[in-house]
Amino acid sequence: MGPSFASGFTRLPLFYFIEGNRVGQVLERNCFGDRRSIQLNYAVISPKADGCSPRISLPCQVPTNSHFKTLRQEIESALDSATQFDVDCPDQLRQAIRYSLLAPGKRLRPALVLIAYELCKTPEYRQNAMPAACAVEMVHAYSLIHDDLPAMDNDDLRRGQPTCHKKFDEATAILAGDALLALAFEMIGNLTPPELAGRCCKELAIAAGACKLVGGQMDDMLREKEEHRKQIGNTESTIRMMEHVHHRKTGALIRVSLKLGGMIANASESQLNALDDFGKHFGLAFQITDDLLDVLGEEATVGKRLRKDAEMDKWSYPHFLGIDGAKQAAEKAVNDAENALAVFDPNSLPMQMLLGLVGQLPNRTK
Ligand code: IPE
Ligand code: IPE
Ligand code: MG
Ligand code: MG
Ligand code: MG
Repeated sequence: MGPSFASGFTRLPLFYFIEGNRVGQVLERNCFGDRRSIQLNYAVISPKADGCSPRISLPCQVPTNSHFKTLRQEIESALDSATQFDVDCPDQLRQAIRYSLLAPGKRLRPALVLIAYELCKTPEYRQNAMPAACAVEMVHAYSLIHDDLPAMDNDDLRRGQPTCHKKFDEATAILAGDALLALAFEMIGNLTPPELAGRCCKELAIAAGACKLVGGQMDDMLREKEEHRKQIGNTESTIRMMEHVHHRKTGALIRVSLKLGGMIANASESQLNALDDFGKHFGLAFQITDDLLDVLGEEATVGKRLRKDAEMDKWSYPHFLGIDGAKQAAEKAVNDAENALAVFDPNSLPMQMLLGLVGQLPNRTK
């Protein structure tokens, strides 16, 4: 994933690059070195969708793909080092933790921590943010292990391999999740100075807690039940409730990833607010497109069982809005996310990374 998870096109918000509807402005404003490598005749202007501004796509000749690869390598190496454990960690537990954590995930959340840091500070020192990057990936991995358990979504495939409880057993999977959650906060404790570690610890705890990630998961489970389905009112209020679940079960961790990167970079209040707002809309777009992938995706590419949301009576965007309605909702969330970044210089590499990541969500294949 990353800027490369779809077709190799980076989609850029029109208002940054087009003045007076002259497509040529795109080339003038897009400053990734060799302008001639961007062919104007490849540019695609998407039609104006309801409630969204039109958007332009350019062939991705910018170095975002290789930068994402670098970030992923650094993240995976840090995750590997952080999960060696001493002799007191039972072998089976160590194996289960590493099996799930180091499996080929997209590393979206830790990458967002590092990119937000780079956006507000400077790429050279992004290792300063690595403990937080590892921490959010650990919380994410724990949430996936538990989400897949028979008592929850009862899945047998994750990241292209058997789920943790299938590979090991349920008790080991529960304990591996528990250990990952604790390890996440140990990682945050490595941030310096301690006052920053304390603030980041609190932010992550809130995002992972009863009113956010865990609360969203609880509501997601309850919504499967008949008595809650009966409470469905008009479509609009149902969609608002579903959006609230999405914001918490998935959005909160994505949102805090961006915020932590900004906090560690000592970002200004307006920068932090912009990152937070971007994260909120990104998180919603991410879960809507996850719902869409469940209906439209290919299992071999996505690496998890699909067509399960309908089977389990989940509240999902395609269920209430249909495929086209869900796509439109994703487009709107992407658009809102792009607009949230207006305070930053649109030409920096981290900014292009963020725009590339969010802009490609509607086309993602995994
Ligand atoms: C899957 O997240 C769970 C959701 C919140 C929808 P990802 O799609 O980021 O999963 P990995 O990390 O790439 O496996
Ligand atoms: C999972 O949402 C959200 C969390 C793990 C917190 P889903 O249940 O839709 O995620 P997938 O589709 O299993 O990855
Ligand atoms: Mg679930
Ligand atoms: Mg699930
Ligand atoms: Mg899903």
